[in-house]
Amino acid sequence: MKGKTVVITGGNAGIGKATAIALAKKGAEIVITSRSEDKAKTAIAEIKSASGNEAVSYVLVDLSSQKSVRKAAEELKSKCPQIDVLVNNAGCYVSELQLTGDGLEMQFGTNHIGHFLLTNLILDNIKAAGKARIVNLSSIAHKSTRELNLDDINYEKDEYGGWKAYSRSKYCNILFTKELAKRLEKDGITVNAVHPGGVRTEIAEKNANWFTKLGWIVMKPFMITVEKGAATSIHLASSPEAEGVTGHYWVRSKQEWSNKPSQDPENAKALWKKSEELVGQVFPA
Ligand SMILES: NC(=O)c1ccc[n+]([C@@H]2O[C@H](COP(=O)([O-])OP(=O)(O)OC[C@H]3O[C@@H](n4cnc5c(N)ncnc54)[C@H](OP(=O)(O)O)[C@@H]3O)[C@@H](O)[C@H]2O)c1
Repeated sequence: MKGKTVVITGGNAGIGKATAIALAKKGAEIVITSRSEDKAKTAIAEIKSASGNEAVSYVLVDLSSQKSVRKAAEELKSKCPQIDVLVNNAGCYVSELQLTGDGLEMQFGTNHIGHFLLTNLILDNIKAAGKARIVNLSSIAHKSTRELNLDDINYEKDEYGGWKAYSRSKYCNILFTKELAKRLEKDGITVNAVHPGGVRTEIAEKNANWFTKLGWIVMKPFMITVEKGAATSIHLASSPEAEGVTGHYWVRSKQEWSNKPSQDPENAKALWKKSEELVGQVFPA
């Protein structure tokens, strides 16, 4: 991947960091995003030393804040005139109902809206790379969501559940993938969604209640390593076989079916329109 620029959100930890190391080993220039300067610097030292590649840097962004996303997008646009690969990897799991500073349910606001906005704002730089690739980290958890109540983003009518809201955000990652893939097909840019597997990271320990944390810690020994968890993202970001393949959901580097409603183009269009309303900006096809 010499000469290619790769941006990985949440590249300071877990699957994102493992993806960064693997793509740095392939010779790409890596830009990770992180919400903490200290974590970014520590991760960069590790990525450089594990890969032997010095072309690794960071941009700070809190994906739960649209203001922060807009600032980071400006920085990325001037730092990377061409973005060959964007891996929308960052994600959070939150047990109790929390709202972002913009007033959106935290997992929807971070996992979906943060990436929806960031991707659209840096799209010209992605287009400038020619045959670019976008990889969105979703999850098998999306399967618990069968419909989106776009009039109840903050669970004012329906009861909140951490898993329910996480599942919804991962379902949105697939709908976003489908609509974006359609919009970018003419530009030769591929967009795919990934379930990485059950991966031994700290995602369900950071913002989870004791019950979820305990369950996660008990399950951890049975989970796969971050290197294995990163394999599908790496495949979609770099393999010649994945060239030109777009709009799909992938597990273990193979195309699989996401659930039925996540394949419905009308659902994807409705989410896109709602997302535009929530970020106060229209992104024409
Ligand atoms: N682990 C699994 O079994 C599994 C299964 C299916 C899907 N996934 C998906 O895989 C992706 C990576 O997760 P992981 O397991 O590697 O988790 P992780 O180790 O917790 O890494 C998540 C990354 O996202 C960042 N992040 C979280 N909230 C953020 C925010 N508001 N702004 C900016 N960055 C933020 C984290 O930053 P901090 O380090 O500061 O927290 C971290 O860099 C996620 O999208 C997740 O939903 C994971």
